[in-house]
Amino acid sequence: MAPRVTGSSRRECGENHALVPGGAAARVAPMSLRVLYSEADIRRRVRELADEIRPLYAGRNPLLLGVLKGSVFFLADLARALAIPMEVDFVRLASYGDGTESTGFVRFAHDVERPLRGRHVLVVEDIVDTGHTLHFLTSTLATRQAASVRVVTLLDKPARRQREATIHFTGFAIPDLFVVGYGMDFAEAYRHLPDIRVLEGDCAAGGEETSRTGAR
Ligand code: IMP
Ligand code: MG
Repeated sequence: MAPRVTGSSRRECGENHALVPGGAAARVAPMSLRVLYSEADIRRRVRELADEIRPLYAGRNPLLLGVLKGSVFFLADLARALAIPMEVDFVRLASYGDGTESTGFVRFAHDVERPLRGRHVLVVEDIVDTGHTLHFLTSTLATRQAASVRVVTLLDKPARRQREATIHFTGFAIPDLFVVGYGMDFAEAYRHLPDIRVLEGDCAAGGEETSRTGAR
């Protein structure tokens, strides 16, 4: 049977399957997509998160800072569920790889546009995996005189953590699975799915490229 696409097996996909920019999706071998969280599950949990987060930010005009691209759907739903005055901005991060996995060498591909000084910043992530991305982002933001910086992530894979990353609000903690949908991709495919699914099957297209090349 074909191996499951997990965080670990992604690293074993090997360099033989380097992605072709723009043509990546076509190279994904047949895989199955098992629903992990339905649209209703997500809607319910986003509302709960909003109810937990809202009291901390009401009257503070928070800045929701989304990490492109994966967090876009979550941020859009969370912002509307929060339903308080706020601003929205985005960063895009890329990691230099050693060719095998996401490493600690992360950089801004697109930095924050709004000044952060004195602002209450809520970082919005799709998923925290090794923690390298979030560690880089929060340690960088810590130098920018924000009034507060907190982190909400829809998904957390604690078993994969290599770097300490503080998360204040978590939608769902999940095991070491590779998930797609609701903004999250495999080689840029599947972001449009309305639910969150586990990608299982043949490891054909070098999934680690999605994190190495910054297609977050
Ligand atoms: P990190 O390993 O914590 O630095 O995670 C970097 C980024 O990789 C996340 O923000 C996601 O965009 C992406 N990523 C990690 N795990 C998955 C997954 O299971 N599916 C889709 N993207 C993932
Ligand atoms: Mg992300």
